[in-house]
Amino acid sequence: MSLHLRPLHALFAAEATGVDLREPLDDAALAGIVAALDRYAVLVLPAQPLTDDQQIAFSGRLGPLETTIKAYRADHKPRLDLHISDVSNLDENNRVLAEDDRRRMNGLGNRLWHTDSSFKPVPARYSLLSARTIPAEGGETEFADLRAAWDALPEPMQRRIEGLVAEHSILHSRGTIGFTDFSEEERARLQPVPQTLVRTHPGSGRKTLYLASHAGAIRGMKLPEARLLLLDLMEHATQRQFVYRHRWRVGDLVIWDNRCTMHRARPYDLSVPRDMHRTTVSDERSTLAQAGLAA
Ligand code: OGA
Ligand code: MN
Repeated sequence: MSLHLRPLHALFAAEATGVDLREPLDDAALAGIVAALDRYAVLVLPAQPLTDDQQIAFSGRLGPLETTIKAYRADHKPRLDLHISDVSNLDENNRVLAEDDRRRMNGLGNRLWHTDSSFKPVPARYSLLSARTIPAEGGETEFADLRAAWDALPEPMQRRIEGLVAEHSILHSRGTIGFTDFSEEERARLQPVPQTLVRTHPGSGRKTLYLASHAGAIRGMKLPEARLLLLDLMEHATQRQFVYRHRWRVGDLVIWDNRCTMHRARPYDLSVPRDMHRTTVSDERSTLAQAGLAA
């Protein structure tokens, strides 16, 4: 089995063929995928019709899996295994969510540029999203290369932001679209966590911005100044030249490196099913620990 890579964009993202992820991978094939992720940050693997168990088994080879934060809520029985984030618009009976369903409103948050789990003290390393059912139109996913965005920043800006620590909370990002339906218990559990604004990617040695709509403050900076700086950086990082847009086909598995990319879902007709299953591989340490800083 040999991995074949075909670039999909001038800066990052490649299609990877030549592996069957339903079968156990040998160490060399796995190392090939990790090396490709270090180089391309986003890998599209077409025609990988995985079951949840196969997706969990393959993802687990890349590191420890997160469990979904929705797992904690008692109001609805989760549709999927706790190691699968339900990125669909479906309820536990596989019916399209009602217009006023909290889960539908919450899911809209994925339309904001973000990196997965940056609101957790130890955020996500990789996400793996498997397309099971897709709408005929819309519902693409866009990715932004935050290494290239860092490289393109003017030097004075690079100097200004290196060493800064941002505060990330999902309460903040959801709040920007008017979604505030969180319980007291969730509010307590989802308080802001610190993340370095600039990271060095251990696999490639490249410096990268680390940004998300979850970031709502910067330590030691007045709030309006911090928010405006974050908005400017988001605008910079999501310019078209840094963005790859993925148009899904059923059976696609897309793996992205959350340490050096952002992504967002694009709109689609929410009355038709879109069923996507995500597994998430956790990083090993917080970004502050990785930078040798105390939390
Ligand atoms: C995700 C996500 C975007 C999409 O799975 O983490 O943000 O297009 N998905 O569904
Ligand atoms: Mn996401």
